[in-house]
Amino acid sequence: MLDTKVTELLNQQVNKEFYSAYLYLDFSNFCYEEGLDGFGNWYRVQAQEERDHAMLFVQYLLNNGEKVALETIEKPAVVPENAKMVLAEGLKHERYVTGLIHNIYDAAHSVKDFRTMQFLDWFVKEQGEEETNAEGLVKKYELFGDDPKSLYMLDNELGARVYSAPSLVL
Ligand code: FEO
Repeated sequence: MLDTKVTELLNQQVNKEFYSAYLYLDFSNFCYEEGLDGFGNWYRVQAQEERDHAMLFVQYLLNNGEKVALETIEKPAVVPENAKMVLAEGLKHERYVTGLIHNIYDAAHSVKDFRTMQFLDWFVKEQGEEETNAEGLVKKYELFGDDPKSLYMLDNELGARVYSAPSLVL
């Protein structure tokens, strides 16, 4: 059995990860609507990864004999207006999620829950990668987004992203 507070935070994270999937699916749909199919693909793959993250938290709770409490998933808080805004909001969201993961880690650390800390190590690393990716997209758009030919190439680059299952298996 896990600590009550840690369990509560892990359950909340299930919801946060599904919300992330919802948010990125919305970004993806917007990009497809705008004709930026590569951006749409990139965020659709991202949404799939977020669903995987949610399921990893679900499985971890189940593996530890804890109840999984599914709550209402809020609708996306951001209404996308343009690609630049999507990228900036994506980066902001990843930084927020990093804070959430660190907060759970902190709670686990305070009760010497080494098992949960080890589980979260994967997410700490993953968040570093996700922030780097999101920062890279913001930078690329700042450099090339105003030039139609460059934007077309960037869109093609993002269209090449393919989904792969998470490296963490529980
Ligand atoms: Fe599951 Fe993008 O953090």
